[in-house]
Amino acid sequence: MAVSHSFIIVIAGFVLVSLVSVYGDSVTPIDIYARELMDAANNDMEWLKSIRRRIHEYPELMFEEYNTSALIRSELDRMGVSYKWPYAKTGVVAQIGSGLPPVVALRADMDALPLQEQVEWEHKSKIAGKMHACGHDAHVTMLLGAAKLLHQRKDKLKGTVRLIFQPAEEGGAGAALMTNEGTLADAEAIFGMHVDNTLTTGTISSRAGPFFAAVCRFEATIDGKGGHAAFPHMNIDPIVTSCYIILSLQELISRETDPLDSQVISIGFINGGEGHNVIPHKAKIGGSLRSLTTKGLTNLKKRVREVIESQAVVHRCNAFVDYFEHVPMYPAVDNDEILHNHVKEVGATLLGLSNVKTAPQIMAGEDFSFYQQIIPGVMFSVGIRNQDIGSTHSVHSPFFFLDEAVLPVGAALHTAIAEVYFDKYRDKGSQAPIETRHTEL
Ligand code: NI
Repeated sequence: MAVSHSFIIVIAGFVLVSLVSVYGDSVTPIDIYARELMDAANNDMEWLKSIRRRIHEYPELMFEEYNTSALIRSELDRMGVSYKWPYAKTGVVAQIGSGLPPVVALRADMDALPLQEQVEWEHKSKIAGKMHACGHDAHVTMLLGAAKLLHQRKDKLKGTVRLIFQPAEEGGAGAALMTNEGTLADAEAIFGMHVDNTLTTGTISSRAGPFFAAVCRFEATIDGKGGHAAFPHMNIDPIVTSCYIILSLQELISRETDPLDSQVISIGFINGGEGHNVIPHKAKIGGSLRSLTTKGLTNLKKRVREVIESQAVVHRCNAFVDYFEHVPMYPAVDNDEILHNHVKEVGATLLGLSNVKTAPQIMAGEDFSFYQQIIPGVMFSVGIRNQDIGSTHSVHSPFFFLDEAVLPVGAALHTAIAEVYFDKYRDKGSQAPIETRHTEL
């Protein structure tokens, strides 16, 4: 188990010496800390499940999370935890601890997806066409679980924990709005987790550096001149033009991108025309662009626009490209190395070293990256896979199902990540090490 010297000293001060004698010499103070915390989290299991199931039954889409927000506030009220709202329409920001630095932020997203749940179980979504298929119901629950655990320990906390419940991760860039409204303020580090069906329950994974891709979506309208299919020479065909555009776009990856960089262009739809014998006036294509670096995505956007507009000209059409820029492009999730090591260390303490994995990079996006534009942070994955109950389907699937045993695990991880962070950094000039690193990035 990789545990720093300071960590051991701090944790030693954390627990009662008498407990060591109870458990015997072979059990370290860290083991006792982990056991106590996991026991406390597991004791909340029924409450955690009830919260998660209530949210799951009534999913709400981006920026409509009013009932979810109300549930969060009522649970915080019940605990006696202070909070402010609304941020970004439905967001809630709670605070627990000394009120002094260091301030560490923990984040959960609240929104569901426009999907019809296909899993038949007692707490299936009661809202047609909406489903928590990305586990954000669990994210909210785990952060509420951490609020309860942290509040129980509030007098021992050597810093301040800010709990951020944000709306609209699924395409609405809710995190960008939250940061614009100052929710990070004096926080110096932020942590977030996402459920992962590829990881067994009780395990976590993460990596330092680029982790999730920078992502944006686009739509292009190709204007031609419609008419009878028998007279193509009298018309300007936007369908054929769209085909050339789609093929040319693929060359931006295969011919212009460094093969050692990771970028993706996927066309998700092509719409145009209805009749077998009619050339339509216009066609529409749309898709998403991804890169493991934010700079790479910025360059890709520029080239995609150039290729679409130029190919349209070659085929005598006009093209209009829309990047939906009222929603900011998601930057890449880029994990701070020191904070990543902190998460690994805490994960090993709570779950065992063998249950802390190195995550592969993936081309999915996550708006957690907006927080990382401002302060160092780490996004990590937490396992929900359990073959026995069938929680093996990927997020965004209508068959997505979640092993609720993750709930106390996530609550304890959030809690220990903040608590141990304070113990590590409070005596070292809390702001200094993090801010220095940040400017070096
Ligand atoms: Ni998600």
